[in-house]
Amino acid sequence: MGVSMDVVTVTRQDGIAVLCVDYPPVNALSVAVRKGLAEAIAEANADPAIRGIVIRAAGKTFIAGADIKELGQGLHLVSPTLREVQQLLENGKPSVAAIHGTALGGGLEVALTCTHRVALADARLGLPEVKLGLLPGAGGTQRLTRLCGPEVALDLCLSGRQVKAAEALELGLIDAIVPDLDRAPAAFLATAAPAPAILLRGDRLADIDQTLFDDARRTWSRKARGRDAPAEIIGAIEAACGLTGEEGLRAERAAFDRLYAGEQHPALVHAFLAERQAAKLPGAPDPSIPVISRAGVIGGGLMGAGIAAVLANAGIAVTIVDIDDAALSAARERIARLYAGSVSRGILSSDDAGAARARIGFATDYAALADIDLAIEAAPEIMDLKRRIFAALDAVAPPHAILATNTSSLDIDAIAAATSRPGQVIGLHFFSPANIMKLVEVIRGRASAPQALATGMKLVQRLGKVGVSVGNYDGFLANRTLQFYTGQAEFLMEQGASPEQIDRVAEAFGMPMGPVAMRDMAGLDVAALVRKVRALSLPPEERLSPLIEKMVEAGRLGQKSGAGFYRYDNGKRLPDPEAQAIIDDAARALGVERRSFDDDEIRDRLFLPIVNEGARALEDGTATRASDIDVAWINGYGFPAHRGGPMYGGMKHGLQRVIALADRLGAELGPRWKAADLLVRMARTGEDWRAAGY
Ligand code: CAA
Repeated sequence: MGVSMDVVTVTRQDGIAVLCVDYPPVNALSVAVRKGLAEAIAEANADPAIRGIVIRAAGKTFIAGADIKELGQGLHLVSPTLREVQQLLENGKPSVAAIHGTALGGGLEVALTCTHRVALADARLGLPEVKLGLLPGAGGTQRLTRLCGPEVALDLCLSGRQVKAAEALELGLIDAIVPDLDRAPAAFLATAAPAPAILLRGDRLADIDQTLFDDARRTWSRKARGRDAPAEIIGAIEAACGLTGEEGLRAERAAFDRLYAGEQHPALVHAFLAERQAAKLPGAPDPSIPVISRAGVIGGGLMGAGIAAVLANAGIAVTIVDIDDAALSAARERIARLYAGSVSRGILSSDDAGAARARIGFATDYAALADIDLAIEAAPEIMDLKRRIFAALDAVAPPHAILATNTSSLDIDAIAAATSRPGQVIGLHFFSPANIMKLVEVIRGRASAPQALATGMKLVQRLGKVGVSVGNYDGFLANRTLQFYTGQAEFLMEQGASPEQIDRVAEAFGMPMGPVAMRDMAGLDVAALVRKVRALSLPPEERLSPLIEKMVEAGRLGQKSGAGFYRYDNGKRLPDPEAQAIIDDAARALGVERRSFDDDEIRDRLFLPIVNEGARALEDGTATRASDIDVAWINGYGFPAHRGGPMYGGMKHGLQRVIALADRLGAELGPRWKAADLLVRMARTGEDWRAAGY
């Protein structure tokens, strides 16, 4: 007999009540789900004919956590709260969580409240709250510590990583891997040894070495880069070791409430939702998007080899085409080094690396690309060369194949015009190193067909990357806005701020590396080349700072030559009076008035102009949504996600500040720095990005 309770269905199997949560898309613990669970558990507890409870879920996944959208409205506090559901479960009949897909966050916390847990072999489990600026606030830190010990709890709660069923079994997180979820969980429960509620288990917590927490604090004060959640997580797990179950739960709840009330949680939720939004292209989703199974990569340099590896890792057969055997053998070596690095850093098992490598072939003749679905060109940034490559690709590739360029600066329309299929030409702009960086700009040319763009976006997701759809503009979206950030770093140095102060401010803000050190790492000679071209298109009244060129003239090319804006000793970056003297001389020659800066002014000068240029990119259609710009900065340049992204931050701290700075910079530096019309209008009307249509 089946009883339907809205989103939770109950069936009976030989005296076991099987509760199935059915709340698409991910069975999140919304008010409706909690209510359904509470009613069904209470009913099973009260029914003498019921011996135990199975909790499972319909669709593609077990419960994937609290409902993120409801969390933002405080609806997690509406009764029945998750805590109340858990109390019914913990004080009731023996129970088993039957897990498939992903048991995440509050979902895993429900499972941890059951007396037992079983999972399908391909299920994954995790506590990703740290990624949302929270900690597992439904007893996760307490129960996991008691079940698996503090080392495992620290690892899973601080990293937020998902473990596969086999590892979960090894860690003691689940009791068994089962072949199906229809009958096996109930059968398991019928024969399982009775188990006490986890919260009452304390046997693993004797003799905990305090250095475990000291070490975790030391490591995470560096790794957290300004995020609050890691320290609270460590504190909650330490509490689990020293306090009773009830006291531990109270400590965890207090820490959760502090994080929930802070600024980082909403910013991280914004980043989470923005990433999912960015993947959506305008118009209805096209169900007929072709699957890419064979690809060509033109150019086996650093970028091409990285892209080929990313494709091969996703199961795609790849052929790298380069000009001659010498170039190909260099590409082969790069690929070998890349995979050796992935194995040694534990990113890939040696079996997986071997299988992926075997998918990569090499050729000097375009004829090898006769059966591809996609080509990605990663040749040097020379328009004539790219046009020749695209003409050659057009001649051999089947008509359905998409031809993509990885250009970071050239005009997609001019490249597409070299083919007979401009509708099939798009940009797929990876960031270096391609196998690590998550951002890919999916660039639409004037003629790019919606289906080609949708195929590109779907491919990017399949590669485990984050795609942002952008228009065909000089520097596209990410590099276009980056110029204003790095440009300010240079003007600040001219005006008297030191490279160390600028980088210290940016790094304290949460950037992985400050803008000056980033230039040194990328190579100042490379930057000088790009700027030569850029300088040609500047408005006549504007100038670029000459500091990079001055460093190059002095033979200081950045990290690779041992000195740039800093000097490098065994990879360690050190302030360099010689570099400072070059900056001082250049400033004197320009007649720039010099002064000292406080850190707040430097921070505003670096980050607010990004908002202004971002607004221009929205106005001219290069970017679709303000949140896309946030996604690009977080995934392309390591902008701290706990600040939501530059556009989120700009809105939060007031567009007036952005405009006031732009008014000053515009008067000083020229029209590109002036306040964008969109910002001025929004400040007048009080609209936020969404209300303004972005
Ligand atoms: N709440 C509400 N909606 C959610 C959600 C959640 N927890 N998780 C995912 N969604 C939504 C997404 O926004 C998306 O919606 P749209 O289609 O409208 O854009 C949809 O579900 C599908 O999500 P994905 O595109 O990410 O699908 P996927 O198959 O690639 O991944 C997933 C599925 C692994 C569950 C992934 O969505 C994910 O990691 N979700 C976040 C899980 C999480 O962080 N849970 C912890 C929540 S906090 C918590 O639980 C606190 C606590 O202690 C009580």
